Amino acid sequence: MAQSITLDHALRLVQDGDHIVAGMAASEGRAFFERLHEILSDERHVSIDNCLPLKAYPFMVDDAYVDQITVNSWFFSGDLRKAFKHGNIHYIPNHLHLAGSKRIQHISPDIYVGNATPPDKHGYVSLSLGNVYEKAMIKAAKTVILEVNPNLPRTFGDVEVHVDDIDYLVDVDYPVPELPDLAPNEKDEKIGALIADYIHDGDTIQLGIGGIPNAVANALHEKKDLGVHTEMLTTGFMKLYQAGAITNTKKTLHPGKMVAAFALGTQELYAFLDNNPGISILNGAYVNDPFVIAQNDNQVSINTTLQVDLAGQCASESIGSTQFSGTGGQSDTATGAQKALGGRSFIALYSTAMVKGADGTRVETSKIVPTLLPGAFVTLSRNDVDHVVTEYGVAELRGTSLSERTKRLIAIAHPKFRDDLTREAKKMGYIR
Ligand code: COA
Repeated sequence: MAQSITLDHALRLVQDGDHIVAGMAASEGRAFFERLHEILSDERHVSIDNCLPLKAYPFMVDDAYVDQITVNSWFFSGDLRKAFKHGNIHYIPNHLHLAGSKRIQHISPDIYVGNATPPDKHGYVSLSLGNVYEKAMIKAAKTVILEVNPNLPRTFGDVEVHVDDIDYLVDVDYPVPELPDLAPNEKDEKIGALIADYIHDGDTIQLGIGGIPNAVANALHEKKDLGVHTEMLTTGFMKLYQAGAITNTKKTLHPGKMVAAFALGTQELYAFLDNNPGISILNGAYVNDPFVIAQNDNQVSINTTLQVDLAGQCASESIGSTQFSGTGGQSDTATGAQKALGGRSFIALYSTAMVKGADGTRVETSKIVPTLLPGAFVTLSRNDVDHVVTEYGVAELRGTSLSERTKRLIAIAHPKFRDDLTREAKKMGYIR
């Protein structure tokens, strides 16, 4: 039976050398990590695994703790990117559906710190906004500390944990972190409209992280009987449901349910999730397994990237060798969707980015490039890419030769870069 303790008590449980795992994104134990730096010293070092942390915790942003803490992350946030220069922050290469299980095979957690709803009358808490790897870590950790936050929505699926399987509960009361729902710009609207033409009534949809996938949701409001099987459940899905476009009735796996591994969005999304039996938050190892995804007929995956080369390789998580975000479920969802009967996958990107030069001024640069920047990490291989979409059109790459895909990618590049790309493609022997 879990013991209720204070935050001070929870912090005192940390021993020198402990390996701590944090819940992902909004499932972090915020109060604990805000104060973790207070107990670090030359006699007490710790390591932390996290995934898309949503706050600039002192142990991350202040380089005073560099020798006392090591952070390993499955997915960088903006704050981790900024702190990377300290030298104690490292990326863990992973496919999201295997992130937890492979990590446990490498190093087992001493302490898991996450959050949950208050226990119900049967003694079950809900892990609320995610079970990407959280339940597996709760099982593996020697000590489990959950922050109990009454502001978290109670969700269902594979998120219930009995208090007998938790060591310590700490009462907290902070607002649930949000991801703002930004209005789409003109380019987003063009890309959304292009992708919407490829989506049929009755399809099952996955939308990835980033501005464009969210904007695509806005373009789907006139569709009918869409289903949801997605890693990340966003405000865009809630709005589609409210517009009547999502019914989940045509799904071949989990009909009638929206399936996700975690949720991140606005307070309206959290209110929509609360006590909603139409939503199943299931284990990320299951939801994102390409073989499970493929059991959804007509599954459509929509993600985004930072750079794509003329062979179709997508560098979606790094700019050159600098880690920007993470692989997350991009490869899981793109390959899973293509294995599905009638399935399709889309990588959507703006044709250009405004890239900061050494003097601080921004220069417009093509995101479709002859070759990726040196050291760039390939998130989606050229063998797995399907449709690539910019505001200039859709390149259907499935089954194409190198020469055909080069021409199709150049045709959707920004017009002012097409001649350069053609010249480089000829030099490399991709086209005559
Ligand atoms: N070269 C240099 N900089 C680039 C660039 C390029 N080719 N492409 C983009 N950038 C810059 C942008 O200008 C922007 O900079 P700013 O913040 O200073 O304006 C920044 O990188 C972010 O670009 P943006 O396109 O706005 O990113 P996003 O928030 O929409 O996220 C990804 C896009 C690709 C990083 C994100 O989708 C991701 O991490 N994907 C991999 C994981 C994934 O797809 N998971 C799917 C399942 S959830």
